[in-house]
Amino acid sequence: MIKGKKILVTAGPTKEFIDPVRFISNASSGKMGYAIANQLYKLGADVTLVTGPTNIKSNLPENKIHQVISAIEMLDVCSSYFKQIDAAIFTAAVADYRPLSMESSKIKKNENTMSIELVKNPDIAFEFGKVKSKQQLSIGFALETDNMIEYGKSKMNKKKFDFIVLNTTNNSGEGFGFDTNKISILHKNMSIKSYSLKSKEEVAHDIIEELVPLFVESLLSQLLF
Ligand code: PMT
Repeated sequence: MIKGKKILVTAGPTKEFIDPVRFISNASSGKMGYAIANQLYKLGADVTLVTGPTNIKSNLPENKIHQVISAIEMLDVCSSYFKQIDAAIFTAAVADYRPLSMESSKIKKNENTMSIELVKNPDIAFEFGKVKSKQQLSIGFALETDNMIEYGKSKMNKKKFDFIVLNTTNNSGEGFGFDTNKISILHKNMSIKSYSLKSKEEVAHDIIEELVPLFVESLLSQLLF
């Protein structure tokens, strides 16, 4: 069911530059997204990985990896695939805001305080949700510190995810940077499946196992109509 499927995976953080040497970002290492992309590739999927800056090596062919820096660049690349993909898995921790403008020279520390005006970044998963067909699947992630199910549900509805993977930064071994993760998967019917702490490779396997029946459903709906 996965073999030959065109799947877009986003991974890593984005960097939003303030001046030539400073940026706004987050602690995503890219490990979760790369593990998903590698696992899908092993299963024979036609994977495209769009990744923010990371230190990770991928097993994917070079022409299947797009390195980007900012959220706007990530959207530009991803949106060029929106029409042709069977599914998208949005693992990236995209910066929600970017500086209104980037200074062309390094900012000098003359003042005791300074403020930076930020503007909202485009939401890549939301943009896909607006244009995706009934047959295309969209899988999201949410990293929360509290109210995980409530926020996850709201993100799933807003971004039209077929399911959402919830994780936290509350415990060691989970979320950003670690080689392991502990997830729950929230489905549209509000059923929730919780998993134990596992390697990110095993977590990727669990996520793909939840994706397979959705491809079957999508195929059946195509045959029936
Ligand atoms: O990279 P690692 O160190 O392995 O860590 C993995 C991870 C913690 C980054 C990953 O498991 C994870 O949870 N990623 C999502 C982080 C998050 O909280 O996303 P969000 O709540 O800001 O966004 C919700 C969803 O919309 C995500 O699928 C996100 O990729 C997507 N999104 C968000 C904002 C935006 N501008 N564009 C998006 O596509």
